[in-house]
Amino acid sequence: MSTVGIIGAGNIGTNVARAAIAAGHDVVIANSRGPETLKDLIAELGEEHAKAATVDSAARQGDFVLIAIPLHAIEKLPKEPLEDTVVLDANNYYPQRDGRIPALDTNVSTTSELLQKHLPHSHVVKSFNHIYAKDIPAHGLPAGHEDRRALAIAGADPGAKQVVTEFLDTLGYDAVDLGPLSESWRIERDTPGYGPRMTADELREALASTERVQQT
Ligand SMILES: NC(=O)c1ccc[n+]([C@@H]2O[C@H](COP(=O)([O-])OP(=O)(O)OC[C@H]3O[C@@H](n4cnc5c(N)ncnc54)[C@H](OP(=O)(O)O)[C@@H]3O)[C@@H](O)[C@H]2O)c1
Repeated sequence: MSTVGIIGAGNIGTNVARAAIAAGHDVVIANSRGPETLKDLIAELGEEHAKAATVDSAARQGDFVLIAIPLHAIEKLPKEPLEDTVVLDANNYYPQRDGRIPALDTNVSTTSELLQKHLPHSHVVKSFNHIYAKDIPAHGLPAGHEDRRALAIAGADPGAKQVVTEFLDTLGYDAVDLGPLSESWRIERDTPGYGPRMTADELREALASTERVQQT
């Protein structure tokens, strides 16, 4: 079992924490305001398996680290503590929240390529971006179950994708590999795979039929 570093203690961060602890992992979780503001969350998650930390400390303690903060904040992430680390990227682009980002508006980049650019020495893997946060602790099923939900991953590093695939498996999900981060537009906002529960075969079919549209 692993220690999961989690940066961002909102919808995604807390629900991945709940699912991870239920699966037997430990979590170290951070937000922007400091560990003292996370006392109630740690009490709920259980001090035996959950710790609050600063962003730097959560980044260093995690065997791998989930980034679960709004896209507009990714440039504030520290680079050095995340070097040589598998970084899971749950980000999505919502211009009304994040402001307009020309590289995304023109489809020059995907959201995860922006994070990889900011963290050039980390191994970024797109994951958890297309499942509603509250579903994460609820939708897991054992391996081999015919209704097992699949989640898409993407990234440059096969070893990093293997780490994420194994983590998803412990949480009750199959992984469907999209290829490099440049292909992760197939699972970004407003695509057929974004949101609904799908098995691996259903998700692969949805991904294959996805067309890239202009962001609005
Ligand atoms: N909500 C969903 O169902 C869902 C599903 C899939 C993907 N996503 C994507 O996941 C990302 C996070 O969404 P969310 O709904 O979890 O957001 P959220 O509920 O608003 O939580 C954001 C968290 O990020 C923290 N944060 C912000 N800036 C930070 C920084 N510079 N350093 C450390 N922590 C920082 C906030 O801490 P403070 O409160 O201390 O500021 C807060 O704990 C977004 O890109 C979203 O689109 C969301």
